[in-house]
Amino acid sequence: MANPTPLQTLSPTNAGTNPYLLENFRPVLEETSRSGPFEVEGAIPPGLDGLLLRNGPNPAVISDPATYHWFGGDGMLHAISLRDGEVHAYRNRLVRTRALSAAIGTQAPRGPREAIDGPANTSVAFFANRILALCESGLPHRMTAELETVCVEDFDGALTSPLTAHPKIDVETGRMAAFGYDPFGPAFLRYHEFDADGSLLTTTSIDLPRSAMIHDFAVSATKVAFFDLPVVLDANLAMAGSHIPYAFDDQLPGRVGVLGRGQSGNQISWFSIEPCFVFHVANAFDDGECLVADVIVYDKTFDLGMGGLLGSQLPRLERWRMRPGEVRVNRTILDDQALEFPVTDPAVQSRPYRHTFAAQFGRRDGLDRFPGYVKHDVERETAVRITLPEHLHGGEPIFVRAEDGKADDEGFLLCVEYDRSRDLSDLVIYDAHAMNAKPEARIHLPVRIPFGFHGTFVPRATLS
Ligand SMILES: [Fe+2]
Repeated sequence: MANPTPLQTLSPTNAGTNPYLLENFRPVLEETSRSGPFEVEGAIPPGLDGLLLRNGPNPAVISDPATYHWFGGDGMLHAISLRDGEVHAYRNRLVRTRALSAAIGTQAPRGPREAIDGPANTSVAFFANRILALCESGLPHRMTAELETVCVEDFDGALTSPLTAHPKIDVETGRMAAFGYDPFGPAFLRYHEFDADGSLLTTTSIDLPRSAMIHDFAVSATKVAFFDLPVVLDANLAMAGSHIPYAFDDQLPGRVGVLGRGQSGNQISWFSIEPCFVFHVANAFDDGECLVADVIVYDKTFDLGMGGLLGSQLPRLERWRMRPGEVRVNRTILDDQALEFPVTDPAVQSRPYRHTFAAQFGRRDGLDRFPGYVKHDVERETAVRITLPEHLHGGEPIFVRAEDGKADDEGFLLCVEYDRSRDLSDLVIYDAHAMNAKPEARIHLPVRIPFGFHGTFVPRATLS
């Protein structure tokens, strides 16, 4: 069934020269539902049964193309349904945030009003039998499996401040560790533990001297770690109306705070570190009393204003150790080749592990690009790369363990790639163990999926 809904009147003539409105950054102009199967090169592993969900910016209304930034676009979810060796459906829908509903004249979502109407454009998680569209500037939005917006999710009134786009959900217990930073604090930082049924068990505040941007955090079985790094709220940028009023201040110190899970925020231990920034954590685990976090580190970022590039530096994979009794973070470079969007097998999250996967990170035509994938064996400190041909652009891979997979690389990487030669997108499935450049399957989707941020795979058996 196709039910295209026109969203806006954006065209190349009014996109101007803003790179975030061109090529595959440009938004798609309709919400649609398409039935498969679609054209496939290769064979889709028959055990893949579920929904691949992705989230990313897709502005429905652009008030000023000159100042639009990718980070500020309205969130759009994409769902690709796999079953019996076929992709049998694709669907996309905008998240009906309060701001979007006001802009396009539809009914506002149920749920609480927020201090900032966030765009819900960053990631998507499945927790407590709910699909949640997430963005750190606001509360989650609960979505149906058909991608209709249900409500602004405040967990029965328990959550009253923004929630990270990177909560950590334990696959065994179903519990979720999360946090939020609130530019309208104090408290600037709050740490939460949720039970598997969605009830908020504990919230504790952590005292920060300033409002720092904290995109992700590290979670082991017994500890959490927060990155108080020098990308901070900039009053001048906020006054000027910047969508993302944060800037890198290398005069400020960096530090990492470690807290036992369930402890009060005032029990946090701080470890100092050189000024730097971390968007994403590949994984973290306990090594005795030491917390180990594998992180993607920028020497600096948000140092070029809010133009086409995020920052002047490309990031690398490091292992950070926070050992009780020490005052500094112990840093080891695991790989100095640029990468982003790290993922692991959900089964090893917060546990000792061996493999992590990420997007290669490069630059072309003045923009950040993701020209392939990389697999790290963090025990042996080795890496294997898949590099895409020029006309293909990748992004975050999603790892799905094979039905008979015994290890954390025995499965598949599900990747959405933009094919510039067709101006359409493919779902591409790689063997994560072999990391062959030739995929197991390349499914030519009849749609274009704009460059986005994060996704997840929800096994059909867990969808109610
Ligand atoms: Fe992220």
